[in-house]
Amino acid sequence: AKARHLKWEVGHMFWSPDCEEKVLIGINGQFPGPTIRAKAGDTIVVELKNGLHTEGVVIHWHGIGTPWADGTAAISQCAINPEETFTYRFVVDKPGTYFYHGHYGMQRAAGLYGSLIVDVADGEEEPFKYDGELNLLLSDWYHDSIYNQMVGLSSSPMRWIGEPQSLLINGRGQFNCSLAAAHTPGTKQCTAGGNRHCAPVILPVQPNKTYRLRIASTTSLASLNLAIGNHKLTVVEADGNYVEPFVVDDMDIYSGDSYSVLLTTDQDPSSNYWVSIGVRGRAPKTAPALALLNYRPNRGFKLPAIAPPNANALQHNVSEVHPWHLHGHDFWVLGYGEGAYRGDAADAARLNLANPPLRNTAVIFPYGWTALRFVADNPGVWAFHCHIEPHLHMGMGVIFAEAIDRVGKVPKEAVSCGATATALMNGDHL
Ligand code: C2O
Ligand code: CU
Repeated sequence: AKARHLKWEVGHMFWSPDCEEKVLIGINGQFPGPTIRAKAGDTIVVELKNGLHTEGVVIHWHGIGTPWADGTAAISQCAINPEETFTYRFVVDKPGTYFYHGHYGMQRAAGLYGSLIVDVADGEEEPFKYDGELNLLLSDWYHDSIYNQMVGLSSSPMRWIGEPQSLLINGRGQFNCSLAAAHTPGTKQCTAGGNRHCAPVILPVQPNKTYRLRIASTTSLASLNLAIGNHKLTVVEADGNYVEPFVVDDMDIYSGDSYSVLLTTDQDPSSNYWVSIGVRGRAPKTAPALALLNYRPNRGFKLPAIAPPNANALQHNVSEVHPWHLHGHDFWVLGYGEGAYRGDAADAARLNLANPPLRNTAVIFPYGWTALRFVADNPGVWAFHCHIEPHLHMGMGVIFAEAIDRVGKVPKEAVSCGATATALMNGDHL
């Protein structure tokens, strides 16, 4: 196992994620932030400098769970003040597909996120085989700034953030035009190929191979559905846990979820195919995001012969689906039900105590309950909250203070805020 040292600076910058220029929060001048790639057992050390001039920042390593490196502002640490640096140090002990994101105000929705991928340790093997790997980090994008959104959410009457303008794949989307205009009457063809920020993602593959697609969603609001033209997907990992493989035509992905799926490139190799991400469970006001599965040696921009799969699986819900995420632990998802959970024999009978899935994020369906079970074996202070950013901002979350007497030595810089505190800590004379 190695230590991987990273030096990051968070800052505001102009960017055009969907071909419209806005201000977002990036890292080292990149959006999305740099991908962290490590092996199980490695220690990640991130020296994080806050280059935002007038607000704090923190970063949460979603799915990891080290008490003083959890990056939750006002829960596990003070927000890092402008121009100050905080060092995150944590061990990635479990291989899998993860991501990281801001956890202060609504900074995640402002673009502060990136992928975190943990390979098996040297000498270990994944329980499935593949020839190559592709990474899809999914998000939604609003043209309104998070500052406008936050004011709206706390105004009376409340102003809801509404639907996103675009969906992004690896930080790239197309607003108000379609890559597949020929298949979508009434839309204009994007000329996105020329814009380095919003040119569509091209996923190069060789025919007759198996690829591992790593997929994670850090959306502010949208629940997503993913489909790939003509191809089936075999799900093998969820939230960093291996699952008994199962085959699907398309899949729902909620904010906070991550998956690995295997895809075999066994279709007509003279064509490319669409990877399509749509909004799930609402009237689709937001156009699907498209990427190209590029069978080599076809040109990357060769448009697929068949229309994008309809990933908009439309279903009108009467209320919202809330994906709840637990910091510091995985939990078993024991079951779902309607109405209130009463814990009576009928409810108990619905629980799967034999082979429940192990996750760190699970949905609660409208007017329903979800039963989770986890072992409180990680002393610390852990957030448990809806992963929909405006819901969290409005308070939809709780904190588990777990075995606080066993937390151990608290790093001073986690609990003392600002330059004055740092000076006092160092014993400097003021
Ligand atoms: Cu990815 Cu507290 O969340
Ligand atoms: Cu919610």
